[in-house]
Amino acid sequence: MQALPTLKIGQHIARYPIIQGGMGVRISGARLAAAVANAGGIGVISAAALGLNSPYFDISERNVRKRREQFFEANRLALIDEIQLARRLSPDGILGINAMVAAQDYELLVRTAAEQGINLIISGAGLPLQLPELTADYPAVALVPIVSSTRAARIICRKWERQYGRLPDAFVVENPNSAGGHLGAKLEELGTEAAALEVVIPDMVAYVRQELQQPLPVIAAGGIWDRSDIDRALALGASGVQLGTRFIMTHECDADIRYKEFHLHAKPEDVVIVPSPVGMPGRALRNAFAEKAIANSPDLERRCLASCLHACKCRDNQQNFCIVQALDKAARGDIEGGLIFSGSNAGRADRIVSVGELMTELVTPI
Ligand SMILES: Cc1cc2nc3c(=O)[nH]c(=O)nc-3n(C[C@H](O)[C@H](O)[C@H](O)COP(=O)(O)O)c2cc1C
Repeated sequence: MQALPTLKIGQHIARYPIIQGGMGVRISGARLAAAVANAGGIGVISAAALGLNSPYFDISERNVRKRREQFFEANRLALIDEIQLARRLSPDGILGINAMVAAQDYELLVRTAAEQGINLIISGAGLPLQLPELTADYPAVALVPIVSSTRAARIICRKWERQYGRLPDAFVVENPNSAGGHLGAKLEELGTEAAALEVVIPDMVAYVRQELQQPLPVIAAGGIWDRSDIDRALALGASGVQLGTRFIMTHECDADIRYKEFHLHAKPEDVVIVPSPVGMPGRALRNAFAEKAIANSPDLERRCLASCLHACKCRDNQQNFCIVQALDKAARGDIEGGLIFSGSNAGRADRIVSVGELMTELVTPI
């Protein structure tokens, strides 16, 4: 096998075509992102609810309005801290943020990251139709939508071309059949061939080349584990890959050690689909919390913490559970009481390694 190609997104050229996927509520913070960037990949801080586990937020605040204001301000300040720390740890690396369109503070977080000199904004959980407007003053920031279908990419491109006279700098195509976290498909669509990378990547590549007529990279995400998966994605026409789950089992991953060890000891049958108040299914590991969530148990925490989403079944209909609290608990090590997002490959690692070691394994030809 040949050496891996570089990956050019906008003005930024990564030595290796490997993006570490943003993992929300402080699973991928500054430490993980900087380590990946230093190893020649693209490191991504997830901007989702970083303020929760930060000195700027006091969960005991009883006044709902005050707690909400404090939450959004804490997210902003914590994002600034993470970006500045990542930049100190990786002065020359390529660093991005992942921002979710579904979040109420999406616009604020995107603008904040651009002001802080982030190199890339990767954006999904909804269509990032307004993204160019939010970063208009920062042309060096590369903009990368996450899609699960060519149809979604086409809607974004039409709107961006018409309204802003530009196209995205790359696309992440996420396979809902294997990716971790919230999935860009309905429950009944999961497992269908139409959503598989083998179908969507060649279709996206044909769209980009023939209709857009631009050399825009298409990045494959979901279920990528080792070098053979990377080679397979590149053979389908992808220019790079995005990995989430595999980076959890690294020393530098920002989650509590108990979270990493839970992944390490998981078996393939522990990977489950959990309904989420966001309205999308989520892929996670079976634990006490996931079982309650699947059973829609009355014991679930249904108090809305901060009205963090535009549409939320927990806040609006008292259904499911409070997603940010569930993810935050798990990230801090409450591995039975929190929600542990994971891709379908959980349990394939046999030990926790450094990001450098993992990247060396991924880039070494087999
Ligand atoms: C714990 C966890 C949290 C995630 N959080 C986010 C997120 O906040 N935003 C997002 O767009 N994707 C999120 N993802 C998806 C990843 O960025 C990535 O695309 C996906 O995990 C790739 O599939 P893989 O885990 O099989 O490698 C998350 C995934 C995991 C495992």
